[in-house]
Amino acid sequence: MGAFTRRWVLPVLYLTDNWISRIGLWLVMSSIVLWIFLTGASEASGYLGILQFVALPVLFFAGLILVPIGISLQRRREAPDHHLHLPERIELANPKIQRLLIFLAIATGFNLVVGGALTYRTVHYMETTNFCGTACHQVMGPEYAAHLGGAHAQVRCVDCHVGTGTGAMIQAKLNGTRQLYLLLTNQHSRPIPSPPHALKTSAETCENCHNRNHDFGEKLWRQSKFDDAGERLDTALMMKVGRIHGAHMGGGTRIVYQAADQQRKTMVGVRVEKGGQTEQYSNGGTAVFEREMDCLDCHNRPAHAFETAERAVDRQMTAGALPQKIPQFRKAALAAISKAYPSREVAAQQIPGELLAYYKKNAPEAMVLHKADLERAGAQLLALYQLNVYPEMKLTWGNYPLHKGHTDSPGCFRCHSEDLKTKSGKTMTQDCESCHKVLGVEEKNLAALKELGG
Ligand code: HEC
Ligand code: HEC
Ligand code: HEC
Ligand code: HEC
Ligand code: HEC
Repeated sequence: MGAFTRRWVLPVLYLTDNWISRIGLWLVMSSIVLWIFLTGASEASGYLGILQFVALPVLFFAGLILVPIGISLQRRREAPDHHLHLPERIELANPKIQRLLIFLAIATGFNLVVGGALTYRTVHYMETTNFCGTACHQVMGPEYAAHLGGAHAQVRCVDCHVGTGTGAMIQAKLNGTRQLYLLLTNQHSRPIPSPPHALKTSAETCENCHNRNHDFGEKLWRQSKFDDAGERLDTALMMKVGRIHGAHMGGGTRIVYQAADQQRKTMVGVRVEKGGQTEQYSNGGTAVFEREMDCLDCHNRPAHAFETAERAVDRQMTAGALPQKIPQFRKAALAAISKAYPSREVAAQQIPGELLAYYKKNAPEAMVLHKADLERAGAQLLALYQLNVYPEMKLTWGNYPLHKGHTDSPGCFRCHSEDLKTKSGKTMTQDCESCHKVLGVEEKNLAALKELGG
């Protein structure tokens, strides 16, 4: 022990009394302290992984290299004759050892206070919607913009995309690191697949705020559009929300489905566990994964929904944000925004002109009559386009379907179809009335709506 102290520990202590070694020591200590802070911080964003798994190790090893460099330089300075005059023992009275201890104390204090505060702030910043949405602008831009205008704008990206607990956090960091690599090497998918990685359960997300047993009863669902002559056509349903929710998530019911793809667009089997009995529906296809059905299998676009061009135009015409009475407006608007533009910049230059060009060609008299309205509508259509279409991400109208319905994509009919059967030939209901009462479809002056006070 004595020989070891004299030959190894003493020279190291004695010879680290120089700035190069001190900086090295400081880097080594700081990276260890930061590592511990980062690991302790729960539900961090994936990009912290870069800091922890890439930057900190680099600093750590750089520090490790600086320490011996400083030692060897000092050794040359202090003992040009290769004969170093070391004290006998480690003595607190030795000013070199004192300086080292003071340095270590200051560095440790600094690390704990500054490092701790910095990491705390970084972790919190990285959990904000702002960070997730803007750090890699082109890639997350579409979801970020759509999220801002949605019902859940106050719910942070990480609340739905990063679960709670250390396991989820480490997984998120590894994911984030891999995503950053794909981004830097320009290899990420276009558009980003949904979900981007494993879906969280609604128990971890939605059900922090929503009660799955809340009975919504029946609810009027309506939508309108305008025909070429500017007449309003109404569709109205009485949606049996309470029954729909109860059938899939009511007490004692558990539905587990088997899907043929990660996007869960095609189902190959459904298992219902209810009242101690199990029933399996199947079409004999091969499953890629299995999941217990919850809110996210119907409300799959709660935060960042993208629309089809038709829905977007109809919604805005109904709200009066786009003109209702100009002849052929719906057709002209859809023609202008559905065209494939090479980039958002080109679309910005051409969409307003496309709308006017349609009228010049097909209805010049309407164009003369409504010129100012059409110019305003051109700008509005461009805004709609920019919320939904990102050629750089190969993201266009209706790329991300909503599962809560059956008109734009199979939605409910992924399961409620002739295709999936039990052994005895039973299928899930396809009776319109078990989900909604149809009050009218694309009708003028819908009487049922008038009765309801619409
Ligand atoms: C209320 C929950 C929720 C919030 C908040 C949320 N997401 Fe999502 N996100 C989802 C769900 C659910 C999916 C899977 C969608 C599907 O399967 O169709 C998803 C999918 C995605 C995808 C894959 C592509 C796509 O659009 O389907 C990206 C990228 C994404 N989210 C980014 C974000 C970003 C960035 C934010 C914050 C600005 C955010 N999300 C906020 C629930 C959420
Ligand atoms: C942080 C709390 C919170 C979380 C988490 C949350 N919601 Fe909500 N949700 C709300 C609030 C508040 C409203 C009412 C917003 C309003 O009326 O403007 C709402 C409204 C809704 C609506 C009706 C409005 C609409 O967009 O159609 C649905 C459906 C909904 N949430 C589903 C979900 C689903 C599915 C999830 C999980 C992915 C979820 N929510 C997660 C708080 C939350
Ligand atoms: C089987 C599909 C399905 C599942 C699962 C499901 N919902 Fe719904 N939900 C619907 C439909 C359909 C509607 C009515 C249509 C609409 O409002 O657009 C609806 C309506 C709602 C509304 C709006 C009610 C209103 O009065 O505006 C909320 C909030 C909601 N669901 C939350 C949830 C939550 C939270 C979960 C999970 C605990 C969930 N839903 C699970 C299909 C589903
Ligand atoms: C993953 C498969 C799956 C999807 C997707 C699905 N369902 Fe179902 N649904 C079922 C199963 C399974 C049952 C039967 C449960 C049982 O046997 O009690 C069911 C039952 C129902 C019932 C009760 C029928 C009755 O006679 O009482 C309604 C209503 C319903 N679903 C509506 C919907 C709606 C609306 C959607 C789309 C928004 C939807 N379902 C999507 C699997 C699904
Ligand atoms: C399994 C449940 C279910 C069944 C069965 C079902 N629907 Fe629907 N239907 C829905 C839901 C959910 C929506 C859309 C709600 C939304 O978009 O929020 C919808 C929407 C519609 C719409 C509005 C279309 C639009 O513009 O979005 C019409 C029309 C409609 N259904 C007609 C029918 C008819 C007719 C039948 C019978 C042949 C039928 N549905 C069977 C659940 C069902």
